[in-house]
Amino acid sequence: MILLDGKKVSEKVLADVKERVSGLKKQPYLVVILVGDDAASKIYVNNKKKAAERVGIRSKVIELPSETTEAELLDIISVLNSDNSVTGIMVQLPLPFQINKHHVFTTINPQKDVDGFHPENQGKLLTGIEPYFYPATPQGILMLLDEYNIPIEGRNAVVIGRSNIVGKPVAQMLLNRNATVTMCHSYTKDIDDIIKTADIVVSAVGKKIVRCKMVKKNSVVIDVGIFRDASGKLTGDVDFDFVSPSCGFISPVPGGVGPMTIASLMYNASKVY
Ligand code: GUN
Repeated sequence: MILLDGKKVSEKVLADVKERVSGLKKQPYLVVILVGDDAASKIYVNNKKKAAERVGIRSKVIELPSETTEAELLDIISVLNSDNSVTGIMVQLPLPFQINKHHVFTTINPQKDVDGFHPENQGKLLTGIEPYFYPATPQGILMLLDEYNIPIEGRNAVVIGRSNIVGKPVAQMLLNRNATVTMCHSYTKDIDDIIKTADIVVSAVGKKIVRCKMVKKNSVVIDVGIFRDASGKLTGDVDFDFVSPSCGFISPVPGGVGPMTIASLMYNASKVY
């Protein structure tokens, strides 16, 4: 079993991004908008800001109160869209209930949409046209697979979870790389039997779902989930101790997909249109 070391690979990606940024004519400028006071979001946003500083990307966090209206947020995005110094805009999820995230992502200029969530970027991904940006977590997962020379073409990939942030775009990116992709979600029947067919498993659910004896020998297991278990320990979707002995490759939590997401976002933030 080989551990997919997201920490190590992310360092390499960040070093590449730093070099790329130093050679740019225009300094990238990432603006992150945080609405409300979700504790986890604050940590994520802070990590993004620190990563941006490390690679020489100018950044700013706009913190808005949880009672911000949708119209107020859309106005702020419009100002950022027309500010030529701003090259990347991202709005941290989750948003308070009064704000429709689809309205938000549709308002961001697709050429500044570093999350790759605008329907134009998602539609391009679906169609097989190069989007301005690929969503950070799926792109980070593919960077990780590529770094370990894990083949994708012709392999059976099972994606668990169908979110717009991870499940759907990662399935599409694997499909675009000629994998045979099966998507599983909360209504899927006999999920264990489907997981057993996978050469590559990507689990992005947020609860323990991939357990003992579910994975095929030598398969590649990517754990996107991150949450605290009953004892307060950070854990993922995969029962690591029981599953890892049968795997060819497995990503740990923490230290797998998490750091790759940040590095991949910095790669996106270094793209200036
Ligand atoms: N919340 C959890 N993951 C993400 C992400 O990739 N982008 C944004 N904007 N919010 C998130």
